[in-house]
Amino acid sequence: MIFGVAMLVLFLGVITTAAVVDGFVPPSHVQSIDPTKVSQTPPFDHPGLRKVANGAYEAYYVARIFSFTPASIEVPAGSRVTFYVTSADVEHGFSIPATGVNTMVTPGWVSAVSHTFREPGTFLLVCNEYCGAGHQLMAAKVVVK
Ligand code: CUA
Repeated sequence: MIFGVAMLVLFLGVITTAAVVDGFVPPSHVQSIDPTKVSQTPPFDHPGLRKVANGAYEAYYVARIFSFTPASIEVPAGSRVTFYVTSADVEHGFSIPATGVNTMVTPGWVSAVSHTFREPGTFLLVCNEYCGAGHQLMAAKVVVK
């Protein structure tokens, strides 16, 4: 019992020290944001799809219980889309099954993940972190034409 508690304290100490000394942030979270001011902070004050070059898009999403904004985006087949996602309330997930798109969405941070949609189809985008009573309803779609 004493050994177990000592190990827990040691691990917690190592993690805390590493977080403070190295400034650890959650994976893929490169940019911070005030989670109470998401709707006033560009570009998340106008979430949606932006074309940045031929075949390259940026999609800005706000996750909040229990929806994603935008609810639907449409891109041509072959497009590379970089998703930037933040949360206006609690921890959410952002996952498009059968693609490499899967990230946590932590309040206070912007998650970024890219994917090239080669085949046409309608892709379901789901929240895969339990976030409350309506978690299973939290979804959006990506339509590839
Ligand atoms: Cu949002 Cu589960």
